[in-house]
Amino acid sequence: MNCIKIGILGLGNVGKGVWNIIEENKNKIDNYLGSNLEIKKILVRDIHKNRGIAIPQEKLTTNPLEIIQDPEIDIIIEVIGGIDTAFEYIKQAFENGKHVVTANKAVIATHGNKLRALAQRYGVELRYEASVGGGIPIINTLTQSLSANKIDELVGIINGTTNYILTQMSDFGMDFDDALKLAQEKGYAEADPTSDIEGEDVAFKLSILIAVAFGIHIEPHEIPREGITKISKKDIEYASQLGYKIKLFATAKKFDNNFEFHVHPTLVPSNHPLASVSNEFNALFIRGNAVGELMLYGKGAGSMPTGSAVMGDILEIGKIIGTNYKSTPLDVVSEKHLNIIGEG
Ligand code: NDP
Ligand code: HSE
Repeated sequence: MNCIKIGILGLGNVGKGVWNIIEENKNKIDNYLGSNLEIKKILVRDIHKNRGIAIPQEKLTTNPLEIIQDPEIDIIIEVIGGIDTAFEYIKQAFENGKHVVTANKAVIATHGNKLRALAQRYGVELRYEASVGGGIPIINTLTQSLSANKIDELVGIINGTTNYILTQMSDFGMDFDDALKLAQEKGYAEADPTSDIEGEDVAFKLSILIAVAFGIHIEPHEIPREGITKISKKDIEYASQLGYKIKLFATAKKFDNNFEFHVHPTLVPSNHPLASVSNEFNALFIRGNAVGELMLYGKGAGSMPTGSAVMGDILEIGKIIGTNYKSTPLDVVSEKHLNIIGEG
């Protein structure tokens, strides 16, 4: 069987999710690709850190060039986060002919145009489904399924950490700091959670969505934003008495040639579908001129959901590069997996 080799930059929440998905779903993945998918090397800062996951020591390195310049590696997954180093590694990966999949909204929102141009110049793929909405296929929906539409509205909850905090404060009376700590422990928050709670993470994601849906580039820092640090338990209580929930909304609307975009806490009527989006779940309402209104919903943060989105991109690229690629949209189902409802 042919082999597709990948290198991973980063083995935190998302990197570990990718590792676990490949371990758990190896047969399905290899069968889909018609190739053996192998993680060859993983970049970390600290080789000796206890990661609570069984990974052979020889797979880890602290030298990025061992991955970026390895002629055997076909695809690089960038999940170290941050902007400058990530940009440099992705650029070097392209220069070395590697395809890149990233979950890093900061680098895509800031340098997406440059990176897309570089990928094109070197004839390689750049994918970033996981950068917005964790496990929810938002980017693919906009760029593929809805590509015949003119999109004129995007509104939603696209940060898991802040939605988790607001839910814990509202439903369990938890303090802001305790809820943030829990979100960090669960692997939802950014390395520096200020980005989440001050709305910067949402601005990065909204900038990516605006580029994808409207084809215009708005710098993340040009998006007016307010996070959730000024929301108190009292605010949440008063809102509830009036029949509202407080949610951190990202909004982008297009009216003819005018655009409106912002990020801020919003009072949502309790019976509105977005009011019931709880914890790390995200939801995005989309309006297109052909499809009308639709809503995407799912886990917007976390190791496995985000790993799922990264792996979707890997398999798409694997299809493109796999010399032995054969289309098998369904897993080969063996007899024992068949459970036909209604039959004896
Ligand atoms: P973590 O902080 O958990 O992990 C980062 C990993 O990268 C660690 O393994 C760290 O090494 C390694 N690393 C960081 N900087 C360097 C460096 N300069 N050189 C070598 N290794 C480095 O981050 P996450 O996994 O949570 O997030 C990764 C990316 O995915 C970010 O861009 C984030 O925004 C994005 N994302 C995260 C989601 C989530 O739910 N967590 C969801 C969607 C996107 P070491 O372990 O040795 O310290
Ligand atoms: N910190 C981000 C969030 C991770 O909480 O939504 C997912 O992008």
